[in-house]
Amino acid sequence: MSENKHRVSRRQFLNYTLTGVGGFMAAGMLMPMVRFAVDPVLQPKAAGEFVNTNVKESDIKEEPTRVDFTIKQKDAWHEAEEPKSAWVYKNEKGEIVALSPICKHLGCTVNWNGDKSNPNMFFCPCHGGLYEKNGDNVPGTPPSAPLDEYEYKIQDGFLYLGKAKPRGGA
Ligand code: FES
Repeated sequence: MSENKHRVSRRQFLNYTLTGVGGFMAAGMLMPMVRFAVDPVLQPKAAGEFVNTNVKESDIKEEPTRVDFTIKQKDAWHEAEEPKSAWVYKNEKGEIVALSPICKHLGCTVNWNGDKSNPNMFFCPCHGGLYEKNGDNVPGTPPSAPLDEYEYKIQDGFLYLGKAKPRGGA
């Protein structure tokens, strides 16, 4: 066998080198993209997260008070802060109640004592919806279900709110 058969020509050398470098560069560019596409899907979902409202438990009264807070909303690739509200009070047993202000009719925002002719009730100004203090919808007004109720916990003396959950229809 002649020595020439084992020699790599200049053209072959360039082909091998450029293919190797090109492949290396392509992998370097593609890997972050693949990771960007796949990584959020592989992240474990945070379940049952509670958010500190910065309201002290000792400051919660029997009169419903509006509490504003923000939650971190995360879809697969995007994280944003979403403003939320709750009507918070202590019932006659001293238990904390945190109601969603979202009307169950068409989603307007309800207000405590928002209607002078219906005192001590939640009132929805959009179509005259009414709810009792405990969130029960008043029959004969547009809403067909009670206000959702937030899960809550007390930690270090502060009120933390979780998800607002439906309480069933009336
Ligand atoms: S949206 Fe509240 S009564 Fe219609």
